[in-house]
Amino acid sequence: MDKTAEEIRALAKEKDALILAHYYVDEKIQEIADFVGDSYALAKKAISDPRKTIVFCGVTFMGESASILNPDKTVLVPDLDSVCPMALMVNKKDIEDMRAKYDDLAVVCYINSMADVKALSDVCVTSSNALKIVKSLPNKNIFFIPDGNLGRFVAREIPEKNIILNKGYCHVHTEISPKALEALSDEHPEAEILAHPECNEEVSAMADYLGSTKEIIEYATASDKKEFIICTENGVNYELKKQNPGKTFYYVSQNQECPNMKRLTLQKVLNCLKTKSPEIRVSKELRTAALKPLEKMLELAK
Ligand code: 13P
Ligand code: SF4
Repeated sequence: MDKTAEEIRALAKEKDALILAHYYVDEKIQEIADFVGDSYALAKKAISDPRKTIVFCGVTFMGESASILNPDKTVLVPDLDSVCPMALMVNKKDIEDMRAKYDDLAVVCYINSMADVKALSDVCVTSSNALKIVKSLPNKNIFFIPDGNLGRFVAREIPEKNIILNKGYCHVHTEISPKALEALSDEHPEAEILAHPECNEEVSAMADYLGSTKEIIEYATASDKKEFIICTENGVNYELKKQNPGKTFYYVSQNQECPNMKRLTLQKVLNCLKTKSPEIRVSKELRTAALKPLEKMLELAK
């Protein structure tokens, strides 16, 4: 462990702070975190852990959700500019227009969204619980925001619902090229293709398994196969290798990297602990409104 990492661990202990990290952040940060997970697991850990200070190493919507769910805790994010662009790809008017069109509409909001959009939604989902939650809703018409690719995956699995898609997307996942994937798969015919549902339609169609980051890691770990092609952000490689030292993981391109997650550095985590900033703050009014769909997600995903 290098000096900065040691300082972080000592300071986190002294300040009784919980360090959470998403699988996409730099592996040096995953190494020093108390807990690493997908969006859903991280949201649950932020609630269940008794520590009153959370350093959330992920993009801002993750820290914001943790803050909304835990008003009595201080939620810090090491870099306030680590914003997921997909989280901004839907707005109030899109939601209002759709509500005006359908009487029984449920607005299902991927957790990759900001608090103002969550506040106008009926329920939040993550990639690991979207199917379960959408299936459980009584509504026929579902406006799925902001990710069109995850929405298409849900629509395919739940054909009895009318899933209305939004045009949001994740540039990291949609840029994974089906042609390059095909070539890599030809080179390694034994390798299973594991993809995140944020991938584009062609890549998703080629996948042997589609799941959240945590589910991809669990699938590869449980599988008898020895080789896998991973179609998600390459930060998952740290946990994949840690749990599966004897298996080989291939990536379609070197660009499978989220620039927003990768803004975070050990130095920023250390500064965050030292200065107790930057802190995520959500107004009381916004928090009250955005809490409802997040709590509904936790209840329906149980
Ligand atoms: P997971 O919930 O699968 O970790 O996904 C988060 C994310 O941002 C995917 O791009
Ligand atoms: Fe957002 Fe894509 Fe980065 Fe996930 S990988 S945080 S969806 S930009």
